[in-house]
Amino acid sequence: MVDEVVELFGPVPRGLVVDATVGGAGHAQALLEAHPHIQLVGLDRDEAAVAAATTALSRFGDRATVRRARFDDITTIVRELGHERLAGALFDLGVSSHQLDDPDRGFSYRADAPLDMRMDRSQPTTAATVVNEHPETEVARILARYGDERFARRIAHAIVAARPLRTTGELVEVITSTIPAAVRRRTRGHPARRTFQALRIAVNNELDVIEPALRQSVDLLEPRGRCVVLAYHSGEDRIVKDLFRELETGGCECPPGLPCACGAVPVARPLRRRAGRPSPRTGMTSATRSSSRRPASGPTAPPWSSSSSCAPGAMSPPRRSPG
Ligand SMILES: C[S@@+](CC[C@H](N)C(=O)[O-])C[C@H]1O[C@@H](n2cnc3c(N)ncnc32)[C@H](O)[C@@H]1O
Repeated sequence: MVDEVVELFGPVPRGLVVDATVGGAGHAQALLEAHPHIQLVGLDRDEAAVAAATTALSRFGDRATVRRARFDDITTIVRELGHERLAGALFDLGVSSHQLDDPDRGFSYRADAPLDMRMDRSQPTTAATVVNEHPETEVARILARYGDERFARRIAHAIVAARPLRTTGELVEVITSTIPAAVRRRTRGHPARRTFQALRIAVNNELDVIEPALRQSVDLLEPRGRCVVLAYHSGEDRIVKDLFRELETGGCECPPGLPCACGAVPVARPLRRRAGRPSPRTGMTSATRSSSRRPASGPTAPPWSSSSSCAPGAMSPPRRSPG
């Protein structure tokens, strides 16, 4: 997957690439090594990731900068660094293996830890808040919506009955005892996988910031700039696909098959329809990428490129003239 991402950024113009989810800087280092014509700013809202990325990228000197920020602040950060445009943007969505593997963070159902799951540890809401304080209907909604958990209502009911829950181990026990044994035997993967994914997405409000961040990134792209997104579960994937479709069509609502008569102007074009599926060799296995085996999952969202045919006006903010 890293090689594929590196290749996708090969043709971008000279300039600044944002790695909006820099994490441990695996992608960032590979991009800087392979493409001497780019500079890179890595963003992450996790303090530990920022520290790790800063250390890992120090060997690139002033070609690399790391900022602690949420990726929907992308425009502000780019401007603060004195840039008007981006050569590229990379989003590798979700949780990192560092976060999952740190037993204190509470992201994993495999280690007993406080119910935390915050990427940004300065925010007040933790997994314990959701599990112990949200109404049962809201817990059920979160599990169904963000985890596609078919036993959402049953699990939510059991969670509320078992309050207060303090650790991931206690939560795993409640989930495991709630899902019928026959289903547990039939189903691949850990019974707590979907619940943990859902709680993590809710705690970090992960889905709401994707669309604004992608709009900002595409809006900042130079002609021939590229925006690449790796999405790993159906919730992320849907948001990315819908937005990219809108950018490709310029929001055209004319009947399919007929020539466009509404004057919509495409903003960007897809580089390819379907990127490769997650490869276990690159660590995108069930341990780190719990949803990556689902049919609608994997980095299927098309990477995008701004194109010389994209014109101003199709997106709400004023846009540059085509290059
Ligand atoms: C899948 S990891 C990225 C791994 C990285 N590509 C690498 O090569 O090491 C996702 C990272 O994005 C961060 N993240 C998730 N949502 C974010 C957001 N809205 N703003 C900033 N960082 C975010 C997480 O804290 C995590 O470190």
